[in-house]
Amino acid sequence: MTKKFAVFGNPIEHSKSPPIHQHFARQFDLDIDYRKIRSTPEAFASDVERFFNNGGVGCNVTVPFKEQAFELCDALTHTAQTAGAVNTLYQDADNKLWGHNSDGAGLVNDLGKNHQVEIKDSAILILGAGGATRGILEPLISKQPASITIANRTVAKADRLASEFNSIFDIRSTGADLSGFNRAADLVINATSASLSSELPISREDVIANHTICYDLAYAAEPTTFLQWTATRGAARSIDGKGMLIEQAAVSFFTWTKMQPDTAPVIEWLAHN
Ligand code: ATR
Repeated sequence: MTKKFAVFGNPIEHSKSPPIHQHFARQFDLDIDYRKIRSTPEAFASDVERFFNNGGVGCNVTVPFKEQAFELCDALTHTAQTAGAVNTLYQDADNKLWGHNSDGAGLVNDLGKNHQVEIKDSAILILGAGGATRGILEPLISKQPASITIANRTVAKADRLASEFNSIFDIRSTGADLSGFNRAADLVINATSASLSSELPISREDVIANHTICYDLAYAAEPTTFLQWTATRGAARSIDGKGMLIEQAAVSFFTWTKMQPDTAPVIEWLAHN
């Protein structure tokens, strides 16, 4: 029988999730129907309810509904709890609505599996202190980096986010001038939304050395403004978020089906589509 899945967002037309999940399903001869559903803040809760009442197995949630999905759930995984946002929904046998967040695991898996980047003992600089940063902190901490510094142009937001996690890791915070980060980073992650408006969220070149890996959670057909800048500043590698998109999808797919898809052919497919 066809299993029903979906992704909720607004806008949603651009989403690559349906073909990504179809690729995964084909690896297991699984017959799935994975749709894009455009919702609104007012209709989101009833749209999700209707999806599950009509036999939906699981769904993804993207911008701008991840926080609303978090509020809607009856139960949350530990990862979703610390992320403060949900991108994966499913129901248990008692019809309880569960929320998970696969974004951070997607990043960590892409770095480790697809790019052989060692997070353990590395000095990490994260640009931005919004929801995207919150979602990746715990999975990064679990890989035991040497340090994590959050830099944000509104420094109070960076301070607040860092202090929220201080019971599990000594996260440092600083402003856009990076005055609290006087060294080259091993890993710089752009978790700001600056790429959406082609703006550069960083100006200090001395944090980039020839061993520095630079990663943008965003991706586009062309390299983002951040990755163009890091490449010309001599970074070891400048990586966009395409692999993270596939890896987070794989974590969601596993959450729903308990089947672990091979992501390599799907990453290869996305590179040409
Ligand atoms: P998201 O959920 O994608 O993280 P968000 O919560 O709105 O979105 O956070 C966006 C982040 O990008 C913030 O840290 C924001 O900085 P401020 O807190 O100072 O607003 C950051 N950001 C957005 N545009 C930026 C730009 N042009 N330069 C630097 N930082 C930017």
